[in-house]
Amino acid sequence: MTRQFGTVGVVGLGTMGAGIAEVFARTGLAVVAVDVDDEGVTRGRCHLEQSTGRAVARGKLDEAGRAELLGRITWGTSLDALAGCDLVVEAVPERMELKARVFAELDRVCGPDTVLASNTSSLSITELGVHTGRPDKVVGMHFFNPAPVLKLVEVVKTVVTEPDVVADVVALVERLGKSPVVIGDRAGFIANALLFGYLNHAVRMYEARYATREDLDAAMRHGCGYPMGPLALLDLIGLDTAYEILDTMYHQSRDRLHAPAPLLKQMITAGLLGRKSGRGFYTYD
Ligand code: CAA
Repeated sequence: MTRQFGTVGVVGLGTMGAGIAEVFARTGLAVVAVDVDDEGVTRGRCHLEQSTGRAVARGKLDEAGRAELLGRITWGTSLDALAGCDLVVEAVPERMELKARVFAELDRVCGPDTVLASNTSSLSITELGVHTGRPDKVVGMHFFNPAPVLKLVEVVKTVVTEPDVVADVVALVERLGKSPVVIGDRAGFIANALLFGYLNHAVRMYEARYATREDLDAAMRHGCGYPMGPLALLDLIGLDTAYEILDTMYHQSRDRLHAPAPLLKQMITAGLLGRKSGRGFYTYD
């Protein structure tokens, strides 16, 4: 029997979690959006209000549609609010011990048929699954930033994920108007495994004063047709997130390509995290 996924949960309302909640609500699903405290919920809600406000300003959505979309979302600060969900997507920060705790708690709170998904970009879905009593219903659902815009969702299966769970999640991704790809559980999956070596290399070139940030970015935009240059893209992803992804991939592969460029760590320590902190390789209003 195909799962219908009428009510879905999102845990963690940072850039990705809020974007994922928007994608679900836009498709007409009831969404339960949870963060750890009121501040997190307010941040997620503001993100959604801004993003849907922009859609209204661009004539992609009218005010009534926006109100309907926002009305499909219930906000909360307790995982208990997710008890009635058919699917929960976890999008908390990229730390295994934190994600493992969330998965163990979701396993306790949610019904036995609820599918548990992680939006992790590099951590092991298999390892998250073993913190639950239902590893056969645990998958990766990896969206790309900005989630409301980019079409790709990587659906990650482990050696124990039930094939019908994978098929149902793929069908859901298509229903969201997105393009699914299915992949096994390996750090970086497909897109990040290919992308992050390139981004890291760009930081090293910048660090070596090989070219200005503008010229590095312009080369890839105008020479290769990329929508953004690598340094601007790192600012969009968040330097802290990029560092964590590189570090995880480096520890798994020991490939020097993924050894995080020292400049990344220095910028993070100085609080230059990219767009979200107002400054990274570039400065933002
Ligand atoms: N949230 C919601 N919508 C957004 C948005 C955001 N943050 N940023 C832009 N948009 C929307 C705009 O509203 C606009 O929508 P419409 O066409 O419906 O009007 C559309 O996107 C295009 O926006 P703009 O015209 O302002 O700008 P653009 O054409 O330059 O596109 C971009 C902006 C979509 C960010 C584009 O530059 C792009 O695709 N860049 C590459 C992003 C990328 O590579 N992301 C992957 C990062 S890796 C990752 O996410 C994985 C991981 O695990 C870290």
